[in-house]
Amino acid sequence: MGPSSIFAPLSTPAIEILDLAVLVLLVTLGIFVVVGGLLVYSVVRFRRRADDDGSEPPQVYGSEPIEIAWTVAPFLIVVVLTLATTRTIYTVQAAPRPPGALDVTVVGHQWWWEFRYPDLGIVTANELHVPVSDPADPTPTFLTLESADVIHSFWVPQLAGKTDVIPNRTNRMWIDPHQPGLYLGQCAEYCGTQHARMLLRVYVHTRSDFEAWVEAQKRPAIEDPGVAAGREVFQTTACVNCHSLDGTIASGRFGPDLTHLMSRETIAAGAAPNTKESLRAWIADPDSVKPGALMPAMKLDDDELDRLVAYLATLR
Ligand code: CUA
Repeated sequence: MGPSSIFAPLSTPAIEILDLAVLVLLVTLGIFVVVGGLLVYSVVRFRRRADDDGSEPPQVYGSEPIEIAWTVAPFLIVVVLTLATTRTIYTVQAAPRPPGALDVTVVGHQWWWEFRYPDLGIVTANELHVPVSDPADPTPTFLTLESADVIHSFWVPQLAGKTDVIPNRTNRMWIDPHQPGLYLGQCAEYCGTQHARMLLRVYVHTRSDFEAWVEAQKRPAIEDPGVAAGREVFQTTACVNCHSLDGTIASGRFGPDLTHLMSRETIAAGAAPNTKESLRAWIADPDSVKPGALMPAMKLDDDELDRLVAYLATLR
């Protein structure tokens, strides 16, 4: 199974949803087999034969036992499905909130994801980092979903069902990944040109690894005097209007926070690996990496590009 399969759930909401889906599938499969079987039997058993004399078969008007059976059986089936569905909805929506729970605010943008950890003072993009949640001692992550522009949908199939991200509305969901690893997802609501490359990466860490990640993200950006020229390029172009970078004048929120840019494995919401080469290509001409991207090309010359990328590459 691939890393984004709904058939390999590793988090309570996703497991509950798959269990319900399998139950519904089995029940409806049973109905299909019974109805289809009776149909095939009748077609074969009562087909026209060479020696038919053309007379009508015996005509039957009403049968109380049969009518009761075909009313009660579907009713019971619907009751079972209703109860099972209610139970799943309750488990997924009324989740208890243990003391170790983590809060993350997810903000959908065209076409990237902003992740804010209000209690930890961390802001990052596209790559969500959370601790693993041992069912015996759960540390789930509660997500508050908001949109900066249009409707998006947060979907990481192995962790939970999709939840829409709607402007001027706050939706909530939670995940409790049972195993460390990388989980892939994507925006699941058409939101414009680059909807298809509004990818999600969820890194599930052991608790100690998660704490190490938190410490690294809280560290201020390290000043490297060797890249002061690139910092100058950054601060004197329009980068600062859309991006935030701790320790500089940049405090925009239209684009991703760049303070720990190089701690991410991808850029442009998973559209390219986070290497110096792709950073350079992205800054020189965002459209070449992600057509329609809302980041403008800054028309920097080669020299400025080199200095800027050298500076960005130090942001760990
Ligand atoms: Cu965001 Cu589709």
